Amino acid sequence: MSLKRVMVLTGGGDCPGLNAVIRGIVKRASQEKDWEVIGCIESFNGVLREPTEVVELTEKTVDGLQIQGGTILGTTNKGGPFAWPVRQHDGTWTTVDRSDEMIRKLQYMGVDAVINIGGDGSQRISLGLAQKGLNIVGVPKTIDNDLSSTDYTFGFQTAVQICTEAIDKLVTTAASHNRVFIMEVMGRDAGWIALHSAIAGGADICIIPEIPYDVNKIKEKVEQRYNKRRGYCIIVVAEGAKPKGGSTVGTESSEVGYQHVRLGGIGHQLAAELKAAGVEHDIRCTILGHLQRGGTPIAFDRILASQFGVRAMEEVISGNYGQMVAYRHPDIVAVPLEEAVRAQNLVDPNGSLVHTAKGLGIEFGQSDPC
Ligand code: F6P
Repeated sequence: MSLKRVMVLTGGGDCPGLNAVIRGIVKRASQEKDWEVIGCIESFNGVLREPTEVVELTEKTVDGLQIQGGTILGTTNKGGPFAWPVRQHDGTWTTVDRSDEMIRKLQYMGVDAVINIGGDGSQRISLGLAQKGLNIVGVPKTIDNDLSSTDYTFGFQTAVQICTEAIDKLVTTAASHNRVFIMEVMGRDAGWIALHSAIAGGADICIIPEIPYDVNKIKEKVEQRYNKRRGYCIIVVAEGAKPKGGSTVGTESSEVGYQHVRLGGIGHQLAAELKAAGVEHDIRCTILGHLQRGGTPIAFDRILASQFGVRAMEEVISGNYGQMVAYRHPDIVAVPLEEAVRAQNLVDPNGSLVHTAKGLGIEFGQSDPC
């Protein structure tokens, strides 16, 4: 009997739980007699590069992998089959579409199906390849939790746990020094990490992209937290937050093929704005950065990632391609890729979690309606 071959890859920023998905795929595949699994190095780069970089994945390779952070396959959030960076004669860079060439190469390699583990950008690539006839299944990952067709992406809860523990630590030093602490967290355009960790960590103020802020509202709340000069205040700010009428803070990346603005710096901007608005207390800013993506996944993410891995392999076994697996409590389902990438999952300013946060006295810095 000839073996069928599924190729697994991880794309976009890394995230705790990627290895647990890979393990789930390999373990489920090994229960079938006719499937073997290979892994492609650094997203699709392993196929697009010469020599080809793929590895065989066996039960032995993935033994105990559910506890390991990062991805054993490596990843990248630059380039890809539809926008491969190429240097021109004058030294500048452009991109070329290598998707058809890549699909031909996959046929030549005897790859019958592909499982692409990645965030919204990666799943858009999955959709484009599915539309060209590639047998592909997507698995949603991102610490940002910004994919709308799944209740949660794996990696998110681990990031929230890391941020919550960071707030717990900042509280003790803030209280000792009567300081205002601003903690900047990741999430791109979504405020989920900020909102969840602000509630769990008992922050006083939470600033998210979905609710543009008025610095005077934030100042009022800061002052309420002090009795003359004694007191402290914890502000969690999402990297994609912006003042009302203003814009996000970030830098253009110099990395070749990097297609996003690299967000970061709103925490320091907010500190300066609070000073300018007359806050006299000491203000310090902590940017958690990639600490939020590192280390071992918590149990929730290991379980969700394992569920996604097993289900993705089952979609491959049954030939149900062009789908992304998703969590719709309490089930794991498959949704068409078109639907999966249609909309972002953003915080609803009128939703129940913001309502709970307000009930706890958390200030969002929302300006009064005109
Ligand atoms: O999408 C995940 C994420 O961690 C975002 O929260 C953040 O803005 C971005 O990736 C950072 O990407 P990089 O690792 O390229 O700096």
